[in-house]
Amino acid sequence: MRAFELKPGIYWVGSIDWDLRNFHGYLTPYGSTYNAYLVVDEKVALIDTVKRPFLDELLARVQSVIDPVQIAYVVCNHVEMDHSGSIPALVERAPQAQVLTSPNGEKGLRAHFHSDLNYRVVRSGEAISLGRRSLQFFHTPMVHWPDSMVTYLPEEAILFSNDAFGQHLATAVRFDDQAGWEVVYAQAAKYYANIVLPYGDQVKRTLQALGGVKMDMICPSHGVIWRENIARILEAYKRWADYEADDQAVVVYDTMWGSTAKMSQALCRGLEAEGVPVTVRNLETTHISEVMTDVLHSRLVLVGSPTLNNGLLPSVGEFLTYLKGLRPRNRMGFAFGSYGWGGQAVAEIEQVFSALGWQEPVPARRIQWVPDEEQLGHLVEDGRALAKALAQK
Ligand code: FEO
Repeated sequence: MRAFELKPGIYWVGSIDWDLRNFHGYLTPYGSTYNAYLVVDEKVALIDTVKRPFLDELLARVQSVIDPVQIAYVVCNHVEMDHSGSIPALVERAPQAQVLTSPNGEKGLRAHFHSDLNYRVVRSGEAISLGRRSLQFFHTPMVHWPDSMVTYLPEEAILFSNDAFGQHLATAVRFDDQAGWEVVYAQAAKYYANIVLPYGDQVKRTLQALGGVKMDMICPSHGVIWRENIARILEAYKRWADYEADDQAVVVYDTMWGSTAKMSQALCRGLEAEGVPVTVRNLETTHISEVMTDVLHSRLVLVGSPTLNNGLLPSVGEFLTYLKGLRPRNRMGFAFGSYGWGGQAVAEIEQVFSALGWQEPVPARRIQWVPDEEQLGHLVEDGRALAKALAQK
């Protein structure tokens, strides 16, 4: 395995995880990569490492350029072990290497590895010289962990952004233009929706801090490297960080005997009659991490659950727990569901909307047992009213 040269003396030396299908609950049907980068100058720096099972791949790629013993600095932009997992084994092969990280990075690495590595804590804005080139560090706390930072190489205008701008996407190519904007954007959006979404304010601060920085390449820690679509992905991140979304709807539901499904279909008829694009996600067939991408893009989110055992159907409860944790803002919600006797599920959906600060422009709708034509007509009207509320905002 060989290193891939990005610019003279700067290499991608990461690993490709073609088999990854689940990243702590986030489905990754296209696999992922763990990107590490090697800067060969008078001093050699390795920026991030890889998940521990991929150490040999990292070492082979590094060794195709230099002997790892020459590494003077190992930059740890982020402690999560898909990037730091190989640091202890790596520094065994580069005993003089300093591990450069943020203050929270040092705390996190010590707590993960319980070993006394040669740490050097870097301040935000601090730069170190490698000889002809330098590395500058910017702390980016909570994008997406307290320890997170990014590394900038000013002489080449390269930002090593760690998880920011990443995509879970395994490819044979290394650049965004080779993989294609549509493919990469879809996975960058899913990544943002499932990983970065709660931290819009922190993303905005990071974008502001990097506002005047020239970027020829953004090298994230997952997926392909941005070189052609840098302005587009920065604009997308700005929009997502502002919790902006399109005037479209997603209907998320599950059903026991088909009544809540009928309700969702009637709501769709009303929305479509008013020209609102609607995506329908049955939680029995669509994973919650896919649904979150629809929530990222949709300003109107309709959630339906029948009542089971005086509460939510578990699949809807799982989705709402995930949604509440990811904290999307500036959305309108509508709760609906069928029930036999208690009917508590709809109120539980509304509690989550309330916790998220979402508006409910149209009152929730519960229907006992199986909806008849008149009741379905009410739901069509609910859909029309929601479309009108969407148009007014
Ligand atoms: Fe890719 Fe937060 O680790």
